Amino acid sequence: MRTFCSAFEAKRETAKIVGGHRRQYFTVLRYPEAVTRAVETELPLLSKTPLSWGKSVLADPVALLIDHAFLEKKAANNAMDLMTRWPDDWLPGWVETMTSVARDEAAHLAQVTRLLIRRGGRLERTHKNPYANELRKLVRLGTPGDLPDRLFVSALIELRSCERFAVLAAAAEDEELAAFYKALYSSELGHYKVFLRLAYKLGSKELIDARWQQMLESEARILAEQAPGPRIHSGSHELIFQ
Ligand SMILES: [Fe+2]
Ligand SMILES: [Fe+2]
Repeated sequence: MRTFCSAFEAKRETAKIVGGHRRQYFTVLRYPEAVTRAVETELPLLSKTPLSWGKSVLADPVALLIDHAFLEKKAANNAMDLMTRWPDDWLPGWVETMTSVARDEAAHLAQVTRLLIRRGGRLERTHKNPYANELRKLVRLGTPGDLPDRLFVSALIELRSCERFAVLAAAAEDEELAAFYKALYSSELGHYKVFLRLAYKLGSKELIDARWQQMLESEARILAEQAPGPRIHSGSHELIFQ
């Protein structure tokens, strides 16, 4: 399987071989190809974000970094919350997995805030994330589906974040930001896989498969309903549905 990262490296090699004029040509054409390939091979999302979304949100990088910082903070809080929500039957590795995710997210938060402060921004006190709020409404609270749904919502946020980071890495002309988004892609991909793997331990494969499919459909709908703007999970009029 060819990943986003390996496709990104392939593009770099091509750029070294060709001359200045053609380098620009490849930069424009090959980055979106790399993103498309990554999304199709690694991310089972039901809608795709175009490169134009990345270009438009990067027009206000400070606002985007503020939104991103809160996303990382909430991801760390979520993992800490899940840490004590283990299922009735103790799952070996549950607490270790959640503490490990929380540690990663806290490290991401530190990286984002460093970038933000260097660029003259600062964290605000409060923040709204209507995309995540809508996803959380899908959780069947107080039923046997409660915990699997929480894991699915966590997996969906990681999954869409991966896709958005891939698009941002491709769209960013700022090399520091492009490298940062590219590095986050791999980390969030690992988190998505961990959450989904845990969900599959909580029910029969048929039931979990069916619910996961429903959740993917809901996620695509919820994302399409979001307003545009410099946020990691903002809407785009140009989403491509599978
Ligand atoms: Fe993160
Ligand atoms: Fe994550």
